[in-house]
Amino acid sequence: MCGIVGIIGTEPVAPRLVDALKRLEYRGYDSAGVATLEGGQIGRRRAEGKLGNLAAKLSFEPLNGNIGIGHTRWATHGAPTEGNAHPHATDKVAVVHNGIIENFRELLADLAKDGYLPKTQTDTESVALWVTREIDRGLDPEMAVARTLKELRGAFALAFMFKGEDALLIAARSGAPLAIGYGATEMYLGSDAMALAPFTSRLSYLLDGDWAVLTKNGVTIRDGSDAIVQREMLVSAASALLVDKGNHRHFMAKEIYEQPETVSHTLSHYVDMSSDKVALREALPFDFATLKRLTISACGTASYAGIVAKYWFERYARLPVDVDVASEFRYREPPLEQGGLSLFISQSGETADTLAALRYCAGQGQHIASLLNSPESTMARESQVVFPTLCGPEIGVASTKAFTAQLTALASLAVAAGVARGTISAQQEAELVHSLTTLPTAISAALALEGQVEDIAKRLSKAKDVLYLGRGQMYPIAMEGALKLKELSYIHAEAYPAGELKHGPIALVDELMPVIVVAPSDELMAKTLSNMQEVAARGGKIILITDEVGKQTVGEGVAEVLVLPKVASFVAPILATIPVQLLAYHTASFMGTDVDQPRNLAKSVTVE
Ligand code: F6R
Repeated sequence: MCGIVGIIGTEPVAPRLVDALKRLEYRGYDSAGVATLEGGQIGRRRAEGKLGNLAAKLSFEPLNGNIGIGHTRWATHGAPTEGNAHPHATDKVAVVHNGIIENFRELLADLAKDGYLPKTQTDTESVALWVTREIDRGLDPEMAVARTLKELRGAFALAFMFKGEDALLIAARSGAPLAIGYGATEMYLGSDAMALAPFTSRLSYLLDGDWAVLTKNGVTIRDGSDAIVQREMLVSAASALLVDKGNHRHFMAKEIYEQPETVSHTLSHYVDMSSDKVALREALPFDFATLKRLTISACGTASYAGIVAKYWFERYARLPVDVDVASEFRYREPPLEQGGLSLFISQSGETADTLAALRYCAGQGQHIASLLNSPESTMARESQVVFPTLCGPEIGVASTKAFTAQLTALASLAVAAGVARGTISAQQEAELVHSLTTLPTAISAALALEGQVEDIAKRLSKAKDVLYLGRGQMYPIAMEGALKLKELSYIHAEAYPAGELKHGPIALVDELMPVIVVAPSDELMAKTLSNMQEVAARGGKIILITDEVGKQTVGEGVAEVLVLPKVASFVAPILATIPVQLLAYHTASFMGTDVDQPRNLAKSVTVE
């Protein structure tokens, strides 16, 4: 989940390596480093913490050299210190690595017998040392890397630079993304197209098992059996412009505020607003009418979108749905009926567990569909059909606008499935689609709750634990609220289905416990209100998220009510997401945590 970059250039590369790392910071930001060759010798600068620390270091101790590699780290093995930061180097080779070398202990034990000892706690150093031993045994860099790759187990993307080789980089991919970039007189490598966008749009993506030798004149790509292969050159649409925060304090705030537009943009892809009908543009390799089951896998916030979708597909299309977090699904290896549909939801399209689940389902003869915000990602390339979320790059590490865009697309797909299966009439289709079209305006109104949310957030910031409750399709929104709060503010938060409270968690409730109840008016609201009274009776501080109609029925004991506009219950989960995002955002910014890059997290999780 780190980001890697490499340049064989015609002028000093360090500033451009740092620029590329800036675009990769979403992949990890525990530490960063670059290495270049100056007079044939490897020079390195590394720094703990954000990329700015590395940039500051380079301004005092610049690195020259027209060839180099760079890295931004999300620590897996070894604390995020300068010593553990990449590139890792010996006097012969420097390496940057994204992923995990699972057998690094065995490799280090073997290397120790010959006196090759690590100086860091990282798994990556085993690779640098193994290549060094091969070179010391007389192999050239290319052969040394080829031999080393055969020893490695795990998922990785690697880039190597060698002492005395001022026009040679070697790259390898096994399970983590890596692109080769073609310039007029320069060559590049990087974790994604965005990193290379300022340098070139002409790219080839390595496939799993591939390794590539880059020189000034081009690239030779070999597959896992070392046979030379051609990989298609594509013209990437990734933008060279770094997205900025506009007049917001954080990217997250900007992205929360973009949602009327991003929901509307996504919706316009899936429905015909003039006729209130769904209008899918993708050619479907399956028929909703004859499907027996839909299997959804995703991680984190994206998995909560999948749970909401389960309610929608089962209710409106009468299609049974299984939803799993991908990290569990992939190892459970459930039996899947031939010809079923598997759907993968991911903002990045690179999440390792979701990708592994996708590959498992492809191997089981499932139709593979994905719902993605990254049309050039690995999942996109491995899916038969890609449904887009058209919300633009999401920079804040905590997902906001991607989640509501996922929900918007899933709601549209559920209606499309209902139409195809004959479970909803033309009139119901029109009502459901119309309710989706009311969202942008309703979301704008929900954003106007910000002032009230800020007051509540001030009080929430004093809490040690927070409970979130929801029923039915509001339960996943409660889970999303709890996840957002804990990842941004580091306050412990848990979500429960409101009906489960009395089966255990109610023991936690006392007068210090804020309980956030997500309950817009619907057929379940009365039941949730009863559960709320059980909390109030024990002194819990209730913050109720409801709507104009629900507000009329609220009884005693509620500390705060956040009132949303009344929308159809079909789309209410999308609208109810806005206050839980705002609550988490304001609590965290009030506490002064790093809202856009919370500790220990990364935007794209390419390790399992
Ligand atoms: C939480 C969050 C994560 C992601 C998860 C999946 O705010 O953003 O839980 O939703 O890591 O990432 P993608 O969607 O890229 O597969």
